[in-house]
Amino acid sequence: MSKRFTFGALSALFGLSIASIGCSSKGDGPSVTPGGTSFTDDERALIATLAPPTLPPSKPDPTNRFGDDANAAALGKQLFYDTRFSGVLWEGDNDGSEAALGKLGDTGKVACAGCHQPDAAFADHRSLGHAVSLAAGWTLRRSPSLYDVGQTSLIMWDGRRDSLFSQVFGPIEARNEMNSSRLFVAEQLFEFHRADYEKVFGAMPPLDDAKRFPVLTPATTGCKGAGTSPKECHGMPGDGAEFDGMTAADQDAVTGVIVAFGKAIAAYERTLHCGPGRFDDFAHGKTEALTASEQRGLQVFLGKGKCVGCHSGPFFSDEKFHVVGLHAELVATTVIDPDDQGAVVGLASVLTDSLNSKGKWSDGDDGRLPASVDPSMLGALRTPMLRCGGGRQSFMHTGQLHTLEAVVDFFARGGDPHGFAGKNELQPLILDDTEKADLVAFLKALDGTNPTKE
Ligand code: HEC
Ligand code: HEC
Repeated sequence: MSKRFTFGALSALFGLSIASIGCSSKGDGPSVTPGGTSFTDDERALIATLAPPTLPPSKPDPTNRFGDDANAAALGKQLFYDTRFSGVLWEGDNDGSEAALGKLGDTGKVACAGCHQPDAAFADHRSLGHAVSLAAGWTLRRSPSLYDVGQTSLIMWDGRRDSLFSQVFGPIEARNEMNSSRLFVAEQLFEFHRADYEKVFGAMPPLDDAKRFPVLTPATTGCKGAGTSPKECHGMPGDGAEFDGMTAADQDAVTGVIVAFGKAIAAYERTLHCGPGRFDDFAHGKTEALTASEQRGLQVFLGKGKCVGCHSGPFFSDEKFHVVGLHAELVATTVIDPDDQGAVVGLASVLTDSLNSKGKWSDGDDGRLPASVDPSMLGALRTPMLRCGGGRQSFMHTGQLHTLEAVVDFFARGGDPHGFAGKNELQPLILDDTEKADLVAFLKALDGTNPTKE
């Protein structure tokens, strides 16, 4: 036990955090690193939880029995980059520049990779304003990185999906994303990927039978624009509501094809990892792997900054939903929700979603859904993972903070005074400029080997 540990443990009795004692480097023996930072036994135990000897693989996913099937992943990878499933770009900001996926009125331009770019850690570094994403229209929240998404079961910023396979229905049917429909996607799969699909999932329904499955085109799938009524959108949700004159059984067959599409994409997503980096080397004994400033930043992260309270575990997320009091601000021409209700709406929605892990499309249920939604979920968003985040162009669910310096300032001031839904959990921190800079340096050091980088 080091002297600092004793001191820290005593101070904890008086409600002080260990790191508020400061970082005197008088610790005993090996806890002093070449960077001059001494870590207490408590801090070292925490570091071990952030950097286990090897990073865990994607969690088992009983909802998807194809989750670790190599053929499914190979098909999913093709589907992830295929733009032929998408409908019309109706938002006028689509100007044909590099910041857009095409021009107003174009069709067949939006793939998953349009907003989850492989060279941007599967987030979006393309859209105008570098905040939220522009596809057929503008999304209301920022596109998250898909690295290590296989660690999470309640996904999306607000938890409104509980599996990767069911998540694909979102972008397909959202008029501001792919602006397409499950019927059109099924028909395109039939036309372009049938052999690979059938190798994994068995025979497809006869989607070329126009009497049973009305023929959609890139121009007729999805909706005409933001204001059109759902009745004017084609090939859209079943759930008993008849679409395009199809029988209930045929609608179910179409939904089943998209479920398989989702399971293939999920198998691919489960292979996307940030991978271990310098921080892990440091934690495993190579103390020179982090600079002195990065080491001090790590200490702030664990102590005074209280970051590890939410950004915990090997991927720096407790996988829970919290209110941190972000006052949403408009960036560029984007549309935002200034009163985002967060998980109180998202979790309520997943509980009644016919595509959820308790429903008939799921291959199993591991009890991932909460029994009910706690009112404290008002305005709460899922704690994002932090590995491989250093190079990103924007942060937070709105994408409104463009540097890690701004993020650290945000947390240091304890969030915004008002202008958000729910009750802020943060308190202001007492951090001087060096400590803030050190924290930023540490966050930037969370890079990885990107084992899946292409
Ligand atoms: C128009 C841009 C856009 C397109 C296209 C798009 N996404 Fe996303 N994606 C987003 C945004 C924005 C979010 C977060 C939305 C939210 O949480 O409210 C998201 C969230 C996700 C998540 C949840 C990640 C997490 O950490 O919670 C997954 C998984 C995902 N997308 C996969 C896909 C797949 C697969 C496709 C293609 C079928 C796709 N996305 C197409 C923008 C896009
Ligand atoms: C109460 C839980 C909590 C604490 C404490 C906390 N965070 Fe967060 N953090 C979150 C949540 C939730 C978000 C997403 C909020 C949003 O988008 O509105 C977030 C977002 C972030 C992001 C942006 C990531 C992204 O993908 O956009 C970074 C970076 C970050 N936190 C770092 C920190 C640091 C550094 C500290 C300590 C100074 C800290 N956090 C303390 C919960 C927390």
